[in-house]
Amino acid sequence: MNELIRTLTQTWGPTSYEQGIKDVITRELDGLQLEYRVDALGNLIYCLPAPGKPKLLLSAHMDQIGIIITHIDKDGFLRFGAVGGLDPYKVLGQRFVFANGTIGVAAVESKEHATLEHLTLDKLFLDIGAASRDEALQRVAIGDFAVYSGECTQIGNRVTSAALDDRIGCYVLIETVKAVTGKELNYELYGMFSVQEEIGIKGAKVGAWGVQPDLAIALDVTAWGDTPESYVLDISLGKGPAIKVKDAGMVATPVVRDLLIETARHRGIPFQLEVLQAGTTDAAAIQINGSGVPTGAISIPDRYVHSSSEMVDLGDVEGCISLVTSVLLK
Ligand code: CO
Ligand code: ZN
Repeated sequence: MNELIRTLTQTWGPTSYEQGIKDVITRELDGLQLEYRVDALGNLIYCLPAPGKPKLLLSAHMDQIGIIITHIDKDGFLRFGAVGGLDPYKVLGQRFVFANGTIGVAAVESKEHATLEHLTLDKLFLDIGAASRDEALQRVAIGDFAVYSGECTQIGNRVTSAALDDRIGCYVLIETVKAVTGKELNYELYGMFSVQEEIGIKGAKVGAWGVQPDLAIALDVTAWGDTPESYVLDISLGKGPAIKVKDAGMVATPVVRDLLIETARHRGIPFQLEVLQAGTTDAAAIQINGSGVPTGAISIPDRYVHSSSEMVDLGDVEGCISLVTSVLLK
């Protein structure tokens, strides 16, 4: 099992509380003695200078989806809202963990609400093992955040865990920075570990304004179309990183999309083309930042995204690192 992937996925970091992830990343890259800064929203941005070369911004988001406590009843049960895209049927029966380590189980009011068509977040509650409101208040407060508890396990050449969206993208960016440090670069590299992606790609928006790049590539996950009776999507695990053509938030700038396709072909890296009907990435915010930035994205196919047990293929992850590294090096 890759220990860095494990640490990245198991570190607590819902939207706006990305500090723990930032600490993991800065510790991991510490030995390279690179320059980095943290902007006012919390984006962590590494710079690998290459004077005179165009600026390339790579972005992977640190935050994960979660829940926020909205109400605590007299018996100590908690009601909650979503922080990011949360499907009630993926929430039911799962464990959530708070910053202080408190664990809660998501349960449903009654069985008739538990069918797919009737299940809504307001029919769910969180049980933290408290017998009263007072006891619950010793562990949690209104406004506290919690995230899926989902351990990181390797099965075959695949990894299942909560928060692979987008800690696996953070992993790709970390490994890319390691691979290109000290080498002659085609671009001046800005490696951004962004905040607040899951509630509306907010971090990338201000982060890109601070960098003012000449082109940009987001590193994130995408959906899949290769499980039984799945919806139609031409993406499979294990067939390589997916070069984005379009998602719900953007059309990838053709020049960046083609740079990625040409590079993958030239280096013999297997890849797929991504046309995603729902969802988007940091790329959509970066593309329309300032006076506009040619922007694309590379996506790692991620089954069961936004659940406690997402799943990626390690071959796709390695392919993604190879592709980004190839763009940067001669
Ligand atoms: Co997401
Ligand atoms: Zn994501």
